[in-house]
Amino acid sequence: MKEIALILAAGKGTRMKSDLIKVLHPILGKPMLQWSIDAARQAGLQPWVVVGHQEDNVRAALAGQDIRFVRQSEARGTGHAVLCAIDALPSEGTLLVFFGDTPLFRGETLQQLVQFHSDNLATFLTSKVAEPASYGRLIRDSEGRAHKIVEASEATPEELAVNEINTGASVFDIAWLKTQLPSFQPHAPKNEIYLTDALERAADEGRAGAMILTDNQEAEGVNDRWNLAEASKILQRRILRKHAFNGVSFEDPDSNSIEADVCIEQDTFIGRGVILKGQTSIGKNSRVEAYSCIEDCRIDSGVHIREYSHCFQAVVSSGAVIGPFARLREKSDIRSSARIGNFVEVKKTIVEEGAKANHLTYLGDAYIGAKANIGAGTITCNYDGFSKNQTSIGNGAFIGSNSALVAPVRIGDGAIVGAGATIVKDVPSDSIAVARGEQKHFDGAAIRFRNKRRKE
Ligand code: UD1
Ligand code: CA
Repeated sequence: MKEIALILAAGKGTRMKSDLIKVLHPILGKPMLQWSIDAARQAGLQPWVVVGHQEDNVRAALAGQDIRFVRQSEARGTGHAVLCAIDALPSEGTLLVFFGDTPLFRGETLQQLVQFHSDNLATFLTSKVAEPASYGRLIRDSEGRAHKIVEASEATPEELAVNEINTGASVFDIAWLKTQLPSFQPHAPKNEIYLTDALERAADEGRAGAMILTDNQEAEGVNDRWNLAEASKILQRRILRKHAFNGVSFEDPDSNSIEADVCIEQDTFIGRGVILKGQTSIGKNSRVEAYSCIEDCRIDSGVHIREYSHCFQAVVSSGAVIGPFARLREKSDIRSSARIGNFVEVKKTIVEEGAKANHLTYLGDAYIGAKANIGAGTITCNYDGFSKNQTSIGNGAFIGSNSALVAPVRIGDGAIVGAGATIVKDVPSDSIAVARGEQKHFDGAAIRFRNKRRKE
């Protein structure tokens, strides 16, 4: 059976100044707690989560995952949180404990900690820091062996001067912990039971350990919104680096925001200020130019998304060119080599291979046939105030500029619609539809008009 990672997430996190529990604040598209869960899984551990405050919200945010929940009704300290799980734990094995508000721990670090623990009874992950602040201090004996952890609030001046701190991640022999934890005494003034008291007991039996973290950053917990912003920045850099090492080019990585689940294939270029969110994937050899924002989209290979485009729940096939300043909304399906230009909005519409809508157009609830050409200012009038209606435009059709296509309506293959039309009836294939007022000329009328106005 897999070893267990018990993740403590029952505290409210008052310093966030939020109605939302701390561990559910999102970082790059997933809740803070999910980062801890994913790190545990990467370490090959089975995640268990201790919940208390806003238990229902936490469970809902993690729904559908293979996670075991343990309830701690009242937050009475880290030791008490583990005590709440103790009976549910297997009778023997190794237990990792860490927190839901330390999203920077890497899976490999947790794995190393479990290996380092070996056949100790208790092992804590520590870190040497310039400012130990309010962290618990790891006190070593004269031989340099881990001896105990003292919380800052209870430390003597000599202990406070120690700069090796408890990061909050620890590993235990479960059978031993089951015999010890029930007898841990609460600490005044808050009457909390400290998990850290385990270290001294293990040291008494000569089987305690402390592994010093190599990358101090990993231990940084989130207590307030500024910590949250900083953690997000660190995780963002990790994501960018991962993509860069996979062969993705970044024009200015510090300006990008790329969420955790985004996939990008090699030889793709990401421009300055580009934002990629949700379940977005981008194929090989594509370009996403500056300041474009893409959320929950599938972008295939060889696609060119030009500057300032906004794409949401759209599919763009290979060779298509989008933007600049294009907007693809939900269920837009832009097929190979199609072209969506500036100030064109597309929603629930298939734009077939090689079709073009280059300027100032709205295509909603429509089908645009292969190689059709949609003139500037074309509008599919899909909404009659009550329901949405379909427009279908045939292969190779040509829609003249500034046409209104009042749905439901069909334009046949190869048909031509003259500019400025308001089309309310189906247009047969290969016909020309003209639907506009007849043009009249009044000879010399402009001169007469100007003369009259000048005299006034
Ligand atoms: C704890 C450690 C301290 C360490 C620090 C690292 C103890 C006694 N102290 O202190 O040595 O330097 O973490 O960040 O362990 N939680 C619960 N239930 C509770 C109490 C806490 O689920 O009853 C959760 C909190 O939601 C939080 C985490 O455990 O995610 C840590 O609790 P917190 O109160 O922040 O511990 P610290 O005082 O920071
Ligand atoms: Ca804390």
